Amino acid sequence: MNTFERIAPQARTTTHEGYMPGFGNDFETEALAGALPIGRNSPQRCPYGLYAEQLSGSPFTAPRVANERSWLYRMRPTVQHFGPMEKLALPLWRSAPVVGEADTPPLPMRWGPVPIPGEALDFVTGMRTVCAAGDVHTHAGSATHLYHVTRSMEDTYFYNADGEMLVVPQVGALSFFTEMGVIDIAPGEIAILPRGLKFKVRLVDEAARGYVCENYGAKFTCPERGPIGANCLANPRDFLTPVAAYEDKDGTPCRLIVKWGGAFHASEIAHSPLDVVAWHGNYAPYKYNLRHFSPVGPVLFDHADPSIFTVLTAPSGEPGTANVDFVIFPPRWLVAENTFRPPWYHMNIMSEFMGLIEGVYDAKPEGFVPGGMSLHNSMLPHGPDYDAFMKGSFSPDAPHKLDNTIAFMFETLFPQHLTRYAAELPSFQADYPKVWAKLEKNFDPARPVWDGD
Ligand code: FE2
Repeated sequence: MNTFERIAPQARTTTHEGYMPGFGNDFETEALAGALPIGRNSPQRCPYGLYAEQLSGSPFTAPRVANERSWLYRMRPTVQHFGPMEKLALPLWRSAPVVGEADTPPLPMRWGPVPIPGEALDFVTGMRTVCAAGDVHTHAGSATHLYHVTRSMEDTYFYNADGEMLVVPQVGALSFFTEMGVIDIAPGEIAILPRGLKFKVRLVDEAARGYVCENYGAKFTCPERGPIGANCLANPRDFLTPVAAYEDKDGTPCRLIVKWGGAFHASEIAHSPLDVVAWHGNYAPYKYNLRHFSPVGPVLFDHADPSIFTVLTAPSGEPGTANVDFVIFPPRWLVAENTFRPPWYHMNIMSEFMGLIEGVYDAKPEGFVPGGMSLHNSMLPHGPDYDAFMKGSFSPDAPHKLDNTIAFMFETLFPQHLTRYAAELPSFQADYPKVWAKLEKNFDPARPVWDGD
């Protein structure tokens, strides 16, 4: 049974218990009846003695379509969730590789999966940066991480001031207890945690492994559909934002870790910062089941660009040029006639980091395995390996379903640079470029029709 078969029955339930559907809605939710002020944001005295606090995800004067903020009604204002800050060393979670720490060769690169370590690692201490570009201080670029989790966060909390985090599980389910509610995700689903949101992460299974895109730029949003129209791709109703939930935990040693300006600091406090009893607004975490993505593609001939599989896009400010696109390659029918159906050979200005959640990726049937990853940097060549090329060139011209596959891509404007961690991983496949070595020169000016011989 693949991930999609496991998730599909749950996804067909008629309600979303614990979640509110919609993308970018102006939500309102309260975990205690009457906790949410009605008709105003900051009454003179909030119900139940709560404090009102605004969390802004955009400048106050951003255009209405991009203006995001929420009002949180909490037991203590966030200023009380800070104590003296001590610098925390998390050298494997990088915001940008130090120049010269590792060579980033101008070659396609690929890694096998990294085994989940035996040591105790939570979602923060288990974060390992693979590559990055840009700058947290200028809100441009992103970092790509692997996470390995063997321990839940119980009294440890975290927030990331540098970027929003897109979490792509590959092994094991996780439960994110955030200020604004609880998000549970399993492989085949994703979660998006906005910049500035406090949360802790609990294991649901024995251990967990996956990928994270830390987006320093503008928030992810749904791509325009253009001539596709009002439906298909990722539909807004399939994005789920949690209802309010809180911890009323006092007198217990708690620790808040903050990522700010590329550095980590920790503060000891005596209460849980997850004390938001009610909230309303459009700046909130959400999850999405990739099984709900409705792919669109060629129905007669030729091969569309992979942008048709964009789930979420984080704009750069330049029209059509994403700071990061999150793209998936889900199960789908291939029906194009007289067409080379696998992805073609190409060089792109964008950089492509790929991961495989499960199954087989059609352009790389060997070597690219679930939990693995590849990096095809800006203006570096790649495409189908020899077997995929031959199969794509000579398969019967009949409809064919790609099944048991779910790969994804973080496609970014900026060339990516490796961390030393990634460059020295034992699972690095130094011989990856050899997957194209068997491709032969088939050109023969005397034979206009190539039959493979
Ligand atoms: Fe590519």
